[in-house]
Amino acid sequence: MVKQIAVIKGDGIGPEIIAEAIKVLEAVADKFGHSFEYNYVLLGGTAIDQEGTPLPAETIKACKRADAVLLGAVGGPKWDFGPGHMRPEAGLLGIRKELGLFANIRPVKLFNALKDACPLKDPGEIDLVIVRELIGGAYYGERKTYIDEKTAVRTAYDTMAYSDFEIQRVARVAFDLAKKRAAAVGAAESGRPLGVTSVDKANVLDSSRLWREIVAKVRMEDYPNVALSDMLVDNAAMQLIRYPSQFDVIVTENLFGDILSDEASMLTGSLGMLPSASLNESGVGLYEPCHGSAPDIAGRDIANPLAAILSVAMLLEISFNMSREARAVENAVNAVLEQGYRTVDIVFKSEADSNSCEVVKCSEMGDLVAKVIAGNS
Ligand code: IPM
Ligand code: MG
Repeated sequence: MVKQIAVIKGDGIGPEIIAEAIKVLEAVADKFGHSFEYNYVLLGGTAIDQEGTPLPAETIKACKRADAVLLGAVGGPKWDFGPGHMRPEAGLLGIRKELGLFANIRPVKLFNALKDACPLKDPGEIDLVIVRELIGGAYYGERKTYIDEKTAVRTAYDTMAYSDFEIQRVARVAFDLAKKRAAAVGAAESGRPLGVTSVDKANVLDSSRLWREIVAKVRMEDYPNVALSDMLVDNAAMQLIRYPSQFDVIVTENLFGDILSDEASMLTGSLGMLPSASLNESGVGLYEPCHGSAPDIAGRDIANPLAAILSVAMLLEISFNMSREARAVENAVNAVLEQGYRTVDIVFKSEADSNSCEVVKCSEMGDLVAKVIAGNS
């Protein structure tokens, strides 16, 4: 199959991890007889430097034309002092909005080989997914910074607004995903609860009260067989650490999802392990690791490319309908971890002390995964 992928390397470690993701895509193409064409476009800091804007029009066009978009990471101290609309993050938020990517799917899975890397003493089985609303709430609401001329007091505000249809569509994504996961696991044989936990702050916020009402309505009307529970966001932040295996699918608004997904990533050992898919109504997706551009380690070939590589697995599965290929990538990542290979962020003291792991560079990690896929590891 021939597929077009718009690729945004981005800033910081973005180019390094994307190089490894492409290596893996090429290994998949060779192995399964596909042809992937890459169209490299600019976004974020590099786009500011080269085009004078964080989101060039050509990037929007290329992403809309592509079958899928693969993104490294954007941002860095170099661009921290510009006005809001000239920061790299504005490019990321802009492309999400332009493509209508309302559902951000962040799977949080603890690989067996990384159990020691998880900060919890007895983590149990952690396999949950955060569905984060991505183009609403405080990120996109009305905002202002102003000064009261009489008192000279400066004030800034951001508004968190949600309309019913925005809640409905992301709730559907969560319920569909829960249904799919229940079918895959076989609800009866799974020891852990299946279903959707909707996270909000309905004891305080109006937008959360509407959120809770609409999520319940969507379930009652269209997903009566999927379990639903509501949880306040402060409680959810605590429960993620106390007892993470109670969760299956979490659905929540943009800002809560941003915070909870970074928190949850640590359960997998490192933010460097967390992939994501951002989807719109027509299934066109943007795939990116959840981590940032990590400017402090950029250019040193020590970043963890696995979140980018696992994002490639999501891309293959969701946008290209290539489940076998996606499994091949996930299994290869698992195999390489089982063999004891680690980037620095996922080496843990017990392993280092017992010499039971081998620390590899970003590029070596990509080579190892690609080699397993090619079948000659
Ligand atoms: C993420 C990131 C972004 C966000 C930043 C870089 C704007 O933290 O994808 O989680 O807040 O959405
Ligand atoms: Mg974030």
